[in-house]
Amino acid sequence: MRSSTPAARLAAPSEPLGFQDAANLLNERDFATVRELISNYAGIKLSTQKRNMVYNRLLRRLRACNTATFGEYLELVQRDNSGEREAFVNALTTNLTAFFREPHHFELLRAHAQARAARRGAALRCWSSACSTGEEAWSIAMILREADCPGEVLGTDIDTEVLQAAQAGVYRHERTSGLEIERLRRHFLRGTGANEGLVSMRPELRSMVKFGQLNLQSPAWPAQERFDVIFCRNVVIYFDREFQKKLLARLADLLVPGGLLMVGHSESFPAAHPGFRSCGRTAYERVSG
Ligand SMILES: C[S@@+](CC[C@H](N)C(=O)[O-])C[C@H]1O[C@@H](n2cnc3c(N)ncnc32)[C@H](O)[C@@H]1O
Repeated sequence: MRSSTPAARLAAPSEPLGFQDAANLLNERDFATVRELISNYAGIKLSTQKRNMVYNRLLRRLRACNTATFGEYLELVQRDNSGEREAFVNALTTNLTAFFREPHHFELLRAHAQARAARRGAALRCWSSACSTGEEAWSIAMILREADCPGEVLGTDIDTEVLQAAQAGVYRHERTSGLEIERLRRHFLRGTGANEGLVSMRPELRSMVKFGQLNLQSPAWPAQERFDVIFCRNVVIYFDREFQKKLLARLADLLVPGGLLMVGHSESFPAAHPGFRSCGRTAYERVSG
């Protein structure tokens, strides 16, 4: 039997706990189990500094599952038929994102899309591979439309909860506060009445974008035609070097020659691969190699 914290000690904190408190309530052994499980399920390497964060994020799952201790909860997560594994992963992912985050990538995408449109080439196939709540995928679609470039956008993520938001394509108006008025008018519908304060993606964009669940770590990705552009941003920072290397090789295989790979601001991992050449800030072109 796993040694764990008594239920009484997990009584609702109204504020997130500080490190010392979390260390007392989520014991060393259970924290080690959390780190092992999230690494196995999602490739996410949680540092030992994240104990407080883990405590605060999993506490609501403990309550939702009516489990009294972290030990009991973690046993439930590991039981094949409990269905809790998905919620466990969802609780531990970090989903920060924004429309047109790291705008230099969208300028490169625009140039790529304009060149394709000028050649009257085939639809530009783009993949937002850790799309979170969808802003990245919708931003790609906006650029394609603005460049009059036919295109398709696939948004995927491991987290099923954020994917629901992505698919809904409805956001609080404040999320779009950095966007130019012209862009807002062209691509969003403004909610009225009960939907006051919300904006929704226009149908022209919806017909270009599809969302689905994909764990970048899973050995089998669904067979895909190759992509012209892949956004793999602000996700590999959570993975270890070995997994990053494997992932990069798979991304290289999935990009057409001349295709673009965009990575996050603190991620330079494609620099080491002979199949990529730097073509801008944290942007790489697929070359033969
Ligand atoms: C910080 S967000 C980045 C969102 C967006 N790419 C951006 O840069 O704004 C990281 C996303 O990676 C997802 N993620 C984490 N591990 C993953 C995995 N193994 N497979 C697919 N997505 C994963 C998380 O669910 C989260 O939504």
